[in-house]
Amino acid sequence: MSKVRTTEEWKALDAKSHLHPFTDFNEHAKTRGRIIERAEHIYIYDTDGNKFLDGMSGLWCCSLGYSQPKIADAVQRQFQQLPYYNNFFQCSNAPAVELADRLVSMAPEQFSHVFFTNSGSEANDTNIRLVRRYWDLQNKPNKRIILSRNNAYHGSTIASASLGGFEFVHNQFEKLHYIEHIVDPNWYKNGGDLSPEEFGIQAARALEKKIDELGEDNIAAFIAEPLQGAGGVIVPPDSYWPEVSRILKARNILFISDEVICGFGRTGQLFGCQTYATEPDLITFAKAVTNGFQPLGGVLVSEKVASVVMASGGEFGHGFTYSGHPIACAAALATLDIMESENITDRVRSDIGPYLQKRWAELAEHPIVGHTRGVGMVGSLELVRNKETRERLAPGQMSGGVCRSNSIASGLVMRAVGDSMIIAPPLICSHAEIDLLIERATNALDKTAEHFKV
Ligand SMILES: Cc1ncc(COP(=O)(O)O)c(C=O)c1O
Repeated sequence: MSKVRTTEEWKALDAKSHLHPFTDFNEHAKTRGRIIERAEHIYIYDTDGNKFLDGMSGLWCCSLGYSQPKIADAVQRQFQQLPYYNNFFQCSNAPAVELADRLVSMAPEQFSHVFFTNSGSEANDTNIRLVRRYWDLQNKPNKRIILSRNNAYHGSTIASASLGGFEFVHNQFEKLHYIEHIVDPNWYKNGGDLSPEEFGIQAARALEKKIDELGEDNIAAFIAEPLQGAGGVIVPPDSYWPEVSRILKARNILFISDEVICGFGRTGQLFGCQTYATEPDLITFAKAVTNGFQPLGGVLVSEKVASVVMASGGEFGHGFTYSGHPIACAAALATLDIMESENITDRVRSDIGPYLQKRWAELAEHPIVGHTRGVGMVGSLELVRNKETRERLAPGQMSGGVCRSNSIASGLVMRAVGDSMIIAPPLICSHAEIDLLIERATNALDKTAEHFKV
């Protein structure tokens, strides 16, 4: 149990010894941030006595909010029964077995197996290993290159950060040389004078061009999020995925759908690939599979890939101490039970998702909002000074940070990605809670407009 300390004592101790992920260490040591003390339903509370509506579901993971005693009970029971055992050396455990079977039965029909990890990053590392194995075992050793997209986020290990498409991240380490990036389907930023539909086709054809440039026989796989989350909730134009699917079908390249954000109902279908009618060979999952209450990720493997890697080749030299951890798997089973019994995905598709989208789109009327977009329970908006010219509020992408601070001051956790503001609230929000989210987001936009004198 943590000791009782004052908020200032917590912050001082945090600054003294704790390095935070994706944080400017120097700045944080000075500003000290917030200490989150407890959470309930869709709200988080800090040690300064503030209550926030969590518009980001933690980090896109607490889709069922924070009050889910059935998950806690399942974890507690598993603790008593079998708190740990590994899945190496021909061993397994009941929750891992059940969860693998359950995930396969929920997934699109081409999927037959699951490989467990602790995170989305590790799952994408696993994808690289599986894809390589798949081609090697078919005597195609030249198929090594993996294609990804600018502004993609696929994790933070060396391999998954190489798959990701953030230049500032790549500049901080040696990116793997066999990963190549193409344009992201962000019409607002990259579309110029093209209509969204024209741009969607153009962005998809960048994949075809890259395949021609590098040679189909050298390309192992294409990895993509159904909609790019951490890159700014980049919702592709309607024309994008059909064209990408056409290209992928014509070429002998595996497709990895990274569903770490889109999976488990976020877009109104269980998986984002179902929302966009794509046919992946591998699916990356993590986050909402346990409602964020336990670390768990993994790869759903299609029969096409599984049949090859299982048929021959001996031992697959890859795995983690906590692959298929019984407690994490028990948490996932309880999470999936709740999702099923409360028809969460159907509700996102037919009720709360459309309601959020309707209310979020109204923000486009605000003087500093140039564009809104979203699907299901995710949304983003672009901050601008001039809607016609798309001139930004301030140089150096600083408007997002100002708006985020204003959002926090208004009692809403909204995230900034450059000059975009993004949300991914819990799937269990009521209409009144969405109204409250919109009211607080509007308040943050008003204060930001005032700050930049618009
Ligand atoms: C699409 C996507 N893939 C992979 C990851 C990495 O997951 P993790 O942080 O669990 O390693 C994330 C994390 O946000 C993600 O959004």
